[in-house]
Amino acid sequence: MKQDNREYTDKKLSYHLNDLNLISPLDSEIPLFEPKIKLGILASGNGSNFEYIIKSIQNKQLNAEISILIVNNPNCLAIKKAIKYKIPYVIINHRDCDSRVEHDMLVMKKLEELSVELVVMAGWMRIVGKEIINMYKNRLINIHPSILPSFKGIDAIQQAIDHRVTITGCTVHYVQKEVDSGSIIIQAAVPIKKQDTKDSLKKRIQKMEHIILPLAIATVAKDIRTNFKDKK
Ligand code: GRF
Repeated sequence: MKQDNREYTDKKLSYHLNDLNLISPLDSEIPLFEPKIKLGILASGNGSNFEYIIKSIQNKQLNAEISILIVNNPNCLAIKKAIKYKIPYVIINHRDCDSRVEHDMLVMKKLEELSVELVVMAGWMRIVGKEIINMYKNRLINIHPSILPSFKGIDAIQQAIDHRVTITGCTVHYVQKEVDSGSIIIQAAVPIKKQDTKDSLKKRIQKMEHIILPLAIATVAKDIRTNFKDKK
């Protein structure tokens, strides 16, 4: 009898260990809002988060449309995804600008021109200035691959490995002047396994990013719609 109990417990444990991902806050349903929110996505890299936003819209989990993808790097893979899914995109190369402010202004002009309501930094490798932050107060969010406030800044995954923490993860937060510092919207925990390399850990963190970013967008979009109604 004792033996049976132990086996049962072990099985239960191993089941839970395989699924050790924790998202918080986790409501049972993705927040619903209307009408559709207009998104502007800023990206500099592979665009996997961008792609998952598109998929969430396609499978009707997210009531949104992507008005524009803005990239600063003309060679980034996010552009290929925009072409594949027929999403309008524009390259605003910071190297063609004389200053960071000039680049920010061009980005902001494009967002305004298209009446973007919510701006999502999905792997945007640029620090945004106060002009954009003020213009999109509570409507500008970023995804970062750590459990903030730990491991801010660049190479957060390597920082977590170097510090020998056993749990890391990802965070979606509002953007404010100090890098990776605004209020937290949602986080997911990802355990670091003994045999993990930076790449294997990155893969598991990204899986969770792809889940929490659409959830965060829906959360903020619902807030935007609620505030708008309150003002009427
Ligand atoms: C993500 O890991 C995100 O946390 C960080 O940049 C990466 C972007 O990945 N800010 P992708 O371009 O969406 O694949």
